[in-house]
Amino acid sequence: MLQDRRILLIVSGGIAAYKTLELVRRLRERGASLCSIMTAAAHHFVTPLSLASLSENKVYSELFSLTQESEMGHIRLSREAELIVVAPASADLLARMALGLASDLATATLLAADKPILVAPAMNAMMWAHPATQANLATLEGRGVIRVGPGAGELACGEVGAGRMAEPGEILAAIEAFFSRSQLLKGRKALVTSGPTREPIDPVRYLSNRSSGKQGHAIAAALAAAGAKTVLVSGPTAEPDPAGVTVVPVETAAEMLRSCEGSLPVDVAVMAAAVSDWAIAAVAPQKLKKTESGAPRLSLVENPDILASIAGRASGRPPLVIGFAAETQNLLENARSKRARKGCDWILANDVSAERGTFGGDSNRITLVRADGIEEWPEMTKREVGQRLAERIAAALAEESRSPSGARKPL
Ligand code: C5P
Repeated sequence: MLQDRRILLIVSGGIAAYKTLELVRRLRERGASLCSIMTAAAHHFVTPLSLASLSENKVYSELFSLTQESEMGHIRLSREAELIVVAPASADLLARMALGLASDLATATLLAADKPILVAPAMNAMMWAHPATQANLATLEGRGVIRVGPGAGELACGEVGAGRMAEPGEILAAIEAFFSRSQLLKGRKALVTSGPTREPIDPVRYLSNRSSGKQGHAIAAALAAAGAKTVLVSGPTAEPDPAGVTVVPVETAAEMLRSCEGSLPVDVAVMAAAVSDWAIAAVAPQKLKKTESGAPRLSLVENPDILASIAGRASGRPPLVIGFAAETQNLLENARSKRARKGCDWILANDVSAERGTFGGDSNRITLVRADGIEEWPEMTKREVGQRLAERIAAALAEESRSPSGARKPL
């Protein structure tokens, strides 16, 4: 199942590098093709010769080597791979990745990479637990880097704790899972909305809400990782653009609707944006001033309902249209009636009451409401919600393609 898969392996300095040799052997057995980079520190633990022999391919380490650069520049190394695996990923390499340094071939390649990255951290337990390392990890995971391990146990330094590189079998399983996930939505197109909208009052003020865009961005990232050509139409957020996603930045609901319509046709539309229900009727062309006569009166007009209008299209309606229901009470009842009212296929209902901390938080508890019943998901990270949703979407679209047209089952 890894036949002809192209993997760029980056080996940094750590005792665990000997386990990477075993990983290489097993990847080759499964038909993967490997090209490798070693950091300077890695040379203390394994030799380029052993890595080259086992991978049956070249091993690179010099950023400024004329022969290596003329054969294959650091840009091409990542362009030719489908996945970059960093094993072992030392604390130092993770820190340099998080900072975006490009001081050697490994980091320059990672910085120039346009491919998914999987890291297998390996280090001393104190280094692993250090807030600096944890912050670097959070930064990298926030950018979509996939992590496997580390495990806990006896470490090479003699101490016991977390920091052992995942075993070759576990890393192999993570690589296989990555490649099988990346096929799920191959050939499909997806549209996702995310973040809040901003409705201008005057040139400096606006009406908005507290949506962070974390869930919508995580869904777009998961759909793209599952192989879908994904467009993310997003209001202003602090979230980084997810890898492999075409991001269309917008401000107002009207702009969001226009960009969504311009992205059709798609196979699936997931409307996760917190669209402002109202816009200011008459936006002041100049900054409103304080006056003796008191506060200005703002009059509001209703915004278009993007979800309802995409779901209600006579032509070009995506086969699967999914909305969110953020509720503070009567979750299920409100979600069911919202599904009917908006004409969408599925609703992801979540409880956004203040005590749950969903808004801006990293986790979510979802109830998936479909025509044929509900599915309650346990509490999970917003990234996991994205992944599970991508799986459900893939299954539904596959089912839809199998059923003869005209006999379409409700999704
Ligand atoms: O009606 P309510 O805002 O609760 O509905 C939530 C769902 O509808 C979300 O999926 C949201 O993205 C979508 N929505 C929309 N356009 C609006 C209002 C909500 O797409 N104007």
